[in-house]
Amino acid sequence: MAIQLTINGKPQSVDVPPNMPLLWVLRDTLGMTGTKFGCGMALCGACTVHIDGEATRSCITPISSVAGKKVTTIEGLSPNRSHPVQRAWIEVDVPQCGYCQSGQIMSAAALLAKNAKPSNSEIDEAMKGNICRCGTYQRIREAVHRAAAMHAASAKPARLDGALPTDDALDKQLVEAGGAA
Ligand code: FES
Ligand code: FES
Repeated sequence: MAIQLTINGKPQSVDVPPNMPLLWVLRDTLGMTGTKFGCGMALCGACTVHIDGEATRSCITPISSVAGKKVTTIEGLSPNRSHPVQRAWIEVDVPQCGYCQSGQIMSAAALLAKNAKPSNSEIDEAMKGNICRCGTYQRIREAVHRAAAMHAASAKPARLDGALPTDDALDKQLVEAGGAA
């Protein structure tokens, strides 16, 4: 039986076994290869996507559990690499081999959608499930701070009454930028 879900804002219907992992559906059924296979056991984070805004390991997520939900992959984070995390990643030149990086970016985007100004320890905690064999962790941390600063710079003038935007407003702007749709 076909399973209906929304991927990167578009309704999709996939006729696959209900226990097929979401990662398989993305890569093999839909041809969206930006999300990577690393371990297949929820140990490396390479396969991270957002499901209803939550960073999730797609390698262990049965497609049946995603029915009716909203999935965002690296391909849908922004139409033109304009998401603050993508811009920061480019500016800091984070990737080395690049294999882990779509998962890293998706975890970072989910973190910033919830916490607009994370500390080093909050970044480390949120990103600890994303393994990088090339050891780009220092640059990842720097890029998350840079993305947070970019977002803050664009968000602060938003209110005319002098009040700072609420966390909800910041989240809304990040979601609208593609962070957690
Ligand atoms: S491939 Fe999913 S966590 Fe490693
Ligand atoms: S950049 Fe090579 S594994 Fe992370």
